[in-house]
Amino acid sequence: MQNSNTTTNTPFLDHVSEGLNTQPKYLSSRYFYDKKGDALFQQIMAMPEYYLTNSEMEIFTEQAPAIVTAFEMNPEQSFELVELGAGDGTKTVKLLAEFKNSDYDFTYLPVDISENALSNLKTTLSKQLPDLQISPKQGEYFTVLKELLTSDQPKVVLFIGSNLGNLSDDLANNFLTSLGSYLKKGDKVLLGLDLIKSADIVLPAYNDAAGITRDFNLNLLARINRELGGDFRIENFSHQPEYSEKTGITKSYIKSDIDQTVTIGALKESFHFAKDELIHTEVSRKYNDEILNKVLSGTGLSLANKFTDQKKYFTDFLLEKD
Ligand code: AVJ
Repeated sequence: MQNSNTTTNTPFLDHVSEGLNTQPKYLSSRYFYDKKGDALFQQIMAMPEYYLTNSEMEIFTEQAPAIVTAFEMNPEQSFELVELGAGDGTKTVKLLAEFKNSDYDFTYLPVDISENALSNLKTTLSKQLPDLQISPKQGEYFTVLKELLTSDQPKVVLFIGSNLGNLSDDLANNFLTSLGSYLKKGDKVLLGLDLIKSADIVLPAYNDAAGITRDFNLNLLARINRELGGDFRIENFSHQPEYSEKTGITKSYIKSDIDQTVTIGALKESFHFAKDELIHTEVSRKYNDEILNKVLSGTGLSLANKFTDQKKYFTDFLLEKD
């Protein structure tokens, strides 16, 4: 249980100290997801501009039987279905239902950084799939892999929703190498990635008209105020996303609209922000086959199959451990 504020806040505190004392300043998107951030992300997934969720939902709705077959799991052998960054499970339930329908014997192990998201997920799934065996695990992907992937059972790992996109290519390669090292020959990974496409489709997904993504990004400052005794005046900062079709990378920043100084109580420290100074908060990488193959090199994972939506916006890549 993470019930003491000290345990919960220390990594966040250290991160904020590090990020705001570095030039250029940065804060990591992994801290978006407190209770407020989880709720905002759910609103993001429901926005018309955020095509990613609809595209992957279409893949799971239309192709769940083909995907489940492609995993080639032995129906006589029980296995573990691990999901990294499970969130609210709206899309996953389509696959879980298909596995159940096909009479597979498995335990579902959802991992998420947010305790709040996991407890909501458990409640929803116990209603939708009452006989699902579920064993949630709170933590960061990197940290939990080791304790999670120790059993002898075959494994299917779901890493969907473009979650890998938050990692730079180097970190993505490191992460997949580490993941691969915990898997045995024939284990599978379903990796859901957003595809490189034109800026008029991508940018609005990160800069919606209703300003939900703005609130989501700026919630990082609000969270510092709530948890670390900061005095950020949120109205003096704005949301600034950018996307390059050439690199396929979306970057989000928080911009200081005025010259200002902010104090963070828990750090007993003040930070100066020049007018127009940026805090880098998020990377959302978009992929194609070439970039994916580069990121897969040396990981022990190979591309076995792929499932794409009609509009070719999004792909779920099926990887197999060599
Ligand atoms: C949860 C990482 C997939 O990068 O698209 C949504 C998070 N950030 N809008 C993404 C996000 C801004 C999202 N992922």
